[in-house]
Amino acid sequence: MPKYKAIEPIRIENRQWPDQQITSSPRWCAVDLRDGNQALPNPLTLDQKKEYYQLLLDIGFKEIEVGFPSASKDDYDFCRWLIDEKQIPEDVMISVLAPSRPDLIRKTMEALKDYPQALVHIYVATSDLHREHVLGKTREETVKIVRESIAAIKECAAAQPETRFYLEFSPEEFTDTDLDFAIDICDDVVEQWGTEEGETVILNLPATVERRPPTHYADMIEVFMKKLKTKQAVISLHAHNDMGCAVASTEMALQAGAHRVEGTLFGHGERSGNVDMVTLILNLQYMGIDTGMNFSNLVEINEVVSRLTQMRPHARHPYVGDLVFSAFSGSHQDAIHKCLVRKDEMMEHFGQWKIPYLHVDPADVGRNFEKFIRINSQSGKGGIAHMIELEHQIKLPREFQVVLAKKVQAYAEEVSREITSDELTDVFKANFLGADTPIELIKYWPYPDEKKPSEIHGKVELKFNGEEKTLEADEDGPIAAFVAACRQLDLPEFELVNYEEDSLGKGAKAEAVAFVTVKNKQTQSVSYGIGTHSNIDQAAVKAVVAALNNVLAYG
Ligand code: KIV
Ligand code: ZN
Repeated sequence: MPKYKAIEPIRIENRQWPDQQITSSPRWCAVDLRDGNQALPNPLTLDQKKEYYQLLLDIGFKEIEVGFPSASKDDYDFCRWLIDEKQIPEDVMISVLAPSRPDLIRKTMEALKDYPQALVHIYVATSDLHREHVLGKTREETVKIVRESIAAIKECAAAQPETRFYLEFSPEEFTDTDLDFAIDICDDVVEQWGTEEGETVILNLPATVERRPPTHYADMIEVFMKKLKTKQAVISLHAHNDMGCAVASTEMALQAGAHRVEGTLFGHGERSGNVDMVTLILNLQYMGIDTGMNFSNLVEINEVVSRLTQMRPHARHPYVGDLVFSAFSGSHQDAIHKCLVRKDEMMEHFGQWKIPYLHVDPADVGRNFEKFIRINSQSGKGGIAHMIELEHQIKLPREFQVVLAKKVQAYAEEVSREITSDELTDVFKANFLGADTPIELIKYWPYPDEKKPSEIHGKVELKFNGEEKTLEADEDGPIAAFVAACRQLDLPEFELVNYEEDSLGKGAKAEAVAFVTVKNKQTQSVSYGIGTHSNIDQAAVKAVVAALNNVLAYG
């Protein structure tokens, strides 16, 4: 007998959901303090729950399941603290979970005393697997258990008239339950509750264990909503992530028409977790839907949740992982660099955010200071140039980019790891700025020759191998005069093969930057130099000195 088999698909005629789009935000219910908390190796203390609850409010959650008061004293005390200390804003609804057992329901209702409105969430396992093999109940007995539970809630509610009670019901293991039975029991729940005009019952349909592909979950929701008799129901989703598809399942089930989602930040929850509300909500925001939630400080949210749960999301966790906005590969870096420097222009062109390899603007989730480009042996010239521009405001000419990329790659291969920005700066300086030796420039004055106005007289004061020298030369420009003066030093024969200049920053106060390429005529090898100064001539001569020192250092 095979151990695993293909999963029976859902029989559905005229399937609608694949052609439907999510066009508005569902209601969001955070179950971190209940489903998330019950799966933590070290459950949250009362103080930690208070901090987590505040975080959920700050993000914008209006529905929060705060615990399982009949099962945990901490949850009971937390619920009491919320009510006694008036910690629940008027526009927020808290809910509590209770099993379908009248005695435990009574205890649960006690925890809600004096709260003007409250949602009581009861559940019962409806799958054959659970019903028969865990609980030992028939379908009829299961329906009876739920009816008795509803009767207990109504009885307590009558004794607590100061509170308006609402009902949520979950057929646990919904996705492993016979669909017709799930529909019947849910219709019965709404009927037993006796909804008033305009009132609704939340029918929460959990993938308690993810045993089906996302398409099946959406199919089940579509069929459920079509066949359900009552119209007074809010259809809620609650997907676990055993197959890693909870976000996809929930999105497809929303396409099928569901109204509400339960989940946790970063997917904390039993086994592989609950649906990750951060990924799901940001996915919807990325589709242009106003979700009412604020994740603009996701970095801090992550810090708080990681500290409280003692678990950090994976480095590649969507939106929040340490590496999700980083590019190591050269071609990716090149593409990001080219477009990120023109991001406003790109926005205008596409009418929306569109940057290669960055599906959202990292700034929208608080990654303002992120280094999008990180350097290792896979990095290319574009990425390296981007980093240099970021750190030193120097836009390297192409030839300099190519040379630096080779040097950086060699260095990264040698150290066999990612390199830091300090190390990149060291490689950059070593190859382009040169050491102040053997030539150390002290002063350079270029001035027009009074007798020959077309010529520049250059006077250089420098140290060569530690010895002070004053050199003079006349040429048709200040840089040529400086180069001619340097030829008087004991240097290999050289040729200045390229010279470029640019500015660092914009405006009158911008510094000048000069790029010089010098060829050693004996070895034919080429060296590079960069110089910066508020005066372009001084920048140029600094670049020449750097290039000459490199000639002497590298041959
Ligand atoms: O996963 C689940 O089925 C649950 C229910 C109690 C809603 O957490
Ligand atoms: Zn759950």
